[in-house]
Amino acid sequence: MNVAVLASGSGTNLQALIDSAARGELGPARLAAVGVNVPDCRAFARAQAAGIATFVVDHRQYAVRDEFDRALVAAMEPHEIDLVVLAGFMRLLGPSFLGRYGGRVINIHPALLPAFPGVHAQRQAAAYGVKLSGCTVHFVEAGVDSGPVIAQAAVPVRDDDDEASLAARILVEEHRLLPSVVRALAEGRVTADGRRVRVIESWPSGESLRTM
Ligand code: GRF
Repeated sequence: MNVAVLASGSGTNLQALIDSAARGELGPARLAAVGVNVPDCRAFARAQAAGIATFVVDHRQYAVRDEFDRALVAAMEPHEIDLVVLAGFMRLLGPSFLGRYGGRVINIHPALLPAFPGVHAQRQAAAYGVKLSGCTVHFVEAGVDSGPVIAQAAVPVRDDDDEASLAARILVEEHRLLPSVVRALAEGRVTADGRRVRVIESWPSGESLRTM
């Protein structure tokens, strides 16, 4: 299974995928390409350091969102991509992209969706006073952080947390959850019945993707 990772920023989730692949923990998933929309972002450097094919589609060069989407599809085409992983990719994808890759695009979000979609999820969770937050990996459909949930991991929110401390705690779980889901998808262990997605846990570890 050829996987494309799209990123915009620091790329620590990309790094978690790279490290998992190096340890042989991504199953049949292969990191085939990394695409970024921010030319000099850290994620791009991480991909190059790992020897993964890269492409840049700078959103600032497209006046219309659909043109950006089409450029992204064109950049992905040569890599024969089976699964698209949005790992800190800060652009919304529209019909031209989802029409081509729909049902095969996943995103990681730093909150327990449907709570706190959008940017600043960790800040909002801390400010709201919830006692648990976490991360969600979900299929991408039109809409912000909507789409069927594949897996979630929860972390406690402590009384003295601020945005940064909560984000750091959640990120630890993100780096574990995302590679696990990519592997489960590559191994054909994810099935969907409408919005209800089931992940058949890998045997014999019994590792669960619903964790605390
Ligand atoms: C992560 O918290 C991810 O959930 C969110 O953006 C952040 C990206 O971090 N969508 P990184 O670029 O993977 O370090």
